Amino acid sequence: MALQQAEDAFIPALSAVPVLKKQLSTADFRLSVSTLRINGILPSRGDVQVQAENLATQLKQDSVVEDISTDRGVISFKVNRKLLAQKLLEPFEKGQDEKFGLNSELLNTLKRGTTLVEYSSPNIAKKFHAGHLRSTIIGNFIANLKQTLGNNVIRMNYLGDWGMQFGLLGAGFGQFGSEEKLKQNPLQHLFEVYVRMNKEAEHNEDMKQAARDFFKQLEQHESQAVSLWQQFRQITVDEYQHIYKRLGVHFDIYSGESFHQDQAQEVVQQLQSQGLLKTSEKGTGVVDLSPAGDMNSVCTVLRSDGTTLYITRDIAAAIDRKEKYNFDEMIYVTDKSQVNHFNQLFQILLVMGHSWADRCQHVPFGLVQGMSTRTGEVVFLEDVLDEARARMLHNMSQAKSKYEMDNPEDTAEKVGISALLVQDFRGPLLSDYRFDWDRMLQAQGDTGVFLQYTHARLCRSVLLQRNADIDATTFDPSLLLEQTSMTILQHLLRYDEVLYQSAQDLQPKHLVNFLLKLCHLTASAHRELLVKGSPPDVAQARLRLFRGSCSVLANGMRILGMCPVDKM
Ligand code: ARG
Repeated sequence: MALQQAEDAFIPALSAVPVLKKQLSTADFRLSVSTLRINGILPSRGDVQVQAENLATQLKQDSVVEDISTDRGVISFKVNRKLLAQKLLEPFEKGQDEKFGLNSELLNTLKRGTTLVEYSSPNIAKKFHAGHLRSTIIGNFIANLKQTLGNNVIRMNYLGDWGMQFGLLGAGFGQFGSEEKLKQNPLQHLFEVYVRMNKEAEHNEDMKQAARDFFKQLEQHESQAVSLWQQFRQITVDEYQHIYKRLGVHFDIYSGESFHQDQAQEVVQQLQSQGLLKTSEKGTGVVDLSPAGDMNSVCTVLRSDGTTLYITRDIAAAIDRKEKYNFDEMIYVTDKSQVNHFNQLFQILLVMGHSWADRCQHVPFGLVQGMSTRTGEVVFLEDVLDEARARMLHNMSQAKSKYEMDNPEDTAEKVGISALLVQDFRGPLLSDYRFDWDRMLQAQGDTGVFLQYTHARLCRSVLLQRNADIDATTFDPSLLLEQTSMTILQHLLRYDEVLYQSAQDLQPKHLVNFLLKLCHLTASAHRELLVKGSPPDVAQARLRLFRGSCSVLANGMRILGMCPVDKM
């Protein structure tokens, strides 16, 4: 942004490393020479101050940079605050709020293309556990981020829709199923039938055999079995679509393991013809992934009875996706227990000659402990959403200062989901954390409720402008020179860096912490930069600042997967 332009204009000698603009009270920005490559070379420790002075003499002061000084290897810049305010808040005058920060030099260095993101991926008739919830919200964040940065994004849900569980489900439905219940509450009913049949089959040989038979019929594409399976699958997808909508999540494609049954067999044949398929002592088909080629580390792709496995289907699925969608990168989001699985997947693809496997990535995340509702353990996604909404609704009714809103249920849902997201996104994805309803729903402190509350408050200020009919076209940036305004402006200036950082490591924490900080700064601004009672031109400049903050906050929240509320 402004400083980025200053850097590009004044520091041609620096290679294009992203420079983190650090804020200082004595200077608007500073640059530590020790972090810079000059003509591709890092300066040696001893002469950072000399380098800083050398560089500083090459940097011209101009309309952007008013003063440049150096101290112990750090160059300090004082920028033209008026120009900063003007340039930064310009997009909000032109109604380009959503584009703010996106057309920056820094973000333009990122590669763009087609990104396939696979996330959520629950298993039909089984529990939708905390891991699936995390995959859903993290994957949605990554997809939103990639899309915001100008990529063509394909959102894919890869259902666990194949395997012995369908033998149990199919045979079990014949015994304990009810069409009626299936219509009324499909996920619940399928789960019940599955759990019951699973239990029965533990001690009942006939049941076990019935399940095996049903799955065999499925594998042989027998029409009755297939049509029942299809019904289960479709009903599940319809139901999920509905619930994902509450979360603001959608998918372009519902694929699944079933799609790659036959292709998985072809993969095995290919491995065989490439000489990559070995037979283990147990008679299973394996691929040798040991560096020394001594079968020290192998991956099983074929059972001894000739059936394929989860990984075999994943190999087939990846090849199929490349052919169909020709992605430039593919991202899988699952919990960390599958790190090894994806490593093996990418390795096998590479040895098969698929060099694009280098552009496949697994984003692992840690475990959540203690995710339960008042009625007990969480089985369905809907339970979590209902609980978040109910608890938020309760908190709102208890609050001393009355919330104002048109539709309390809807607001509670949106705010509750934001709380869930902030709790999940604040730390590194790989960390485990303990689920805590009370803490995440607090109105103060670093929570999603605080983000939503600040957004609503900013909306109220912006609305004030419209209602008071304050002329929005004349804007005097020199009325925003006090430190509180400057701190916010400097913070907004970092938005593109935060997105850049997020794009590098796909961690939502940068954006979450950036937005939380913005909300804290806004709270001081609301105290110090009064609008009511100020002269019209001052009021108007401040409203412009609030409008900018409001839009950046909303943009960031949307990337995270939140739906910003205007009133609460
Ligand atoms: N259905 C799997 C599970 O619940 C997750 C699928 C992850 N994606 C993949 N391509 N293997 O564990």
